[in-house]
Amino acid sequence: MAEPLRVVVTGAAGQIAYSLLYMVAKGDVFGPEQPIILHLLDIPVMMGVLEGVVMELADCALPFLRGVVPTDDPAVAFKDVSAAFLVGAMPRREGMERKDLLGANVKIFKVQGEALDKYAKKDVKVLVVGNPANTNALICSRYAPSIPRENFTAMTRLDQNRAQAQIAAKVGVPIQQVSNVIIWGNHSSTQFPDAAHASVTVNGQTLSAPEAVKDSAWLDTVFVPTVQKRGAAVIAARKMSSAMSAAKAASDHMRDWFLGTAPGRFVSMGVLSDGSYGAPKDVVFSFPVTTKNGKWEIVQGLTISDSARKSLDVTGKELEEERKEAIAVIEA
Ligand SMILES: NC(=O)c1ccc[n+]([C@@H]2O[C@H](COP(=O)([O-])OP(=O)(O)OC[C@H]3O[C@@H](n4cnc5c(N)ncnc54)[C@H](O)[C@@H]3O)[C@@H](O)[C@H]2O)c1
Repeated sequence: MAEPLRVVVTGAAGQIAYSLLYMVAKGDVFGPEQPIILHLLDIPVMMGVLEGVVMELADCALPFLRGVVPTDDPAVAFKDVSAAFLVGAMPRREGMERKDLLGANVKIFKVQGEALDKYAKKDVKVLVVGNPANTNALICSRYAPSIPRENFTAMTRLDQNRAQAQIAAKVGVPIQQVSNVIIWGNHSSTQFPDAAHASVTVNGQTLSAPEAVKDSAWLDTVFVPTVQKRGAAVIAARKMSSAMSAAKAASDHMRDWFLGTAPGRFVSMGVLSDGSYGAPKDVVFSFPVTTKNGKWEIVQGLTISDSARKSLDVTGKELEEERKEAIAVIEA
């Protein structure tokens, strides 16, 4: 029997965590027979709510959940963890500027980077979900110098899953018959959902997504903005932000990182940029990656059209601006 794996989820009393904890505890992420000890971090005022979540986890009667550690202390939360889902962040309130939100949240990720550095396993894999996810991941990695920088990633898998779902619905095939849709850049409205390299299997035949969709105007004018604005559409309908789908995406991201991508398939992850595809270096930029033995690698050699080039530049520029603002806030 494998040793239990310690996994921390921050923002554990929040709505994404409410779905995510069940997925992790029942074996969707680290394999169905991997024993898990869950560390749950939230802020002091949420400890009562968190107690209810702990009760429900017990009541799920899950055979491989070997322990639950609820806490408001990062030193306890990050102790010996091998995987970290950093979900907790301050939500945007009415009247709050994007800058104020960035300021509040990057400070949280500085503190959590320091705690990971001090208490987590040195090979911990970190997935940042809390927004602005890419820049939070960058800041977190900077304050955890003893952990390899490639171990800090940001979530764009929800955007990828949304893109895949749009194409599957348009062509009329099950979701698993669509592969290799790419999300480039920032998890924000400047992200570039790119179907040019995607494939769709229709009646046993694998076609490129543009061939299968047969409607290039739809790809440019409906598909791209629908994916970019899907988060806002869910908020408008549900009066709360995406949670179940965000939790599923976080599970997918971490599972593929730990267990590897299938042959011929790639996924999108926000990772530390090495300048591939002309992206700015030293920002956390979403690229197509394959994963093997717990490591990701950027897929190389894809052709970038002139209009895609423009989109990549816009989202890259936004990430450079966010980095500048984040550093200014932290150094103030
Ligand atoms: N990357 C993505 O695709 C994606 C998708 C959806 C949501 N998000 C982001 O995920 C985050 C969480 O969303 P939610 O709907 O679960 O929000 P939520 O408000 O329901 O929950 C957030 C939780 O984080 C806690 N928290 C705040 N500061 C904390 C800290 N310093 N340490 C630990 N916990 C802290 C809060 O108390 C709360 O319980 C938000 O930032 C949201 O914008 C990202």
